[in-house]
Amino acid sequence: MSDHAFRISSNEEISRGKQIEITLNGFKVSAFEGETVATMLLALDKTTMRTTIQGEPRGIYCGMGICFDCLVVVDGVANTRACMTWLKPGMSIATQTGLKAQEI
Ligand code: FES
Repeated sequence: MSDHAFRISSNEEISRGKQIEITLNGFKVSAFEGETVATMLLALDKTTMRTTIQGEPRGIYCGMGICFDCLVVVDGVANTRACMTWLKPGMSIATQTGLKAQEI
């Protein structure tokens, strides 16, 4: 097996899941099934997913559920890790301040 077997070459197209609609901070946004909340936020250039109670921005750090820096509110549930949460149609997502849910 070639050591390049798992790389995507520049001439291969990356296929995305079905286009869906979700709500982000009260606004309708298009997203894709099969992607995480973090992926969608990064694709929208939203690198700050929460702020600490001191006002410091936090976003993706580990990308694998360990650091808890990517916490957002999903369908009213605060402290949800964006990097570990798959997008679903109609999902409501909000950025978060501290460990409490931010009003949408
Ligand atoms: S980026 Fe570390 S838990 Fe999500």
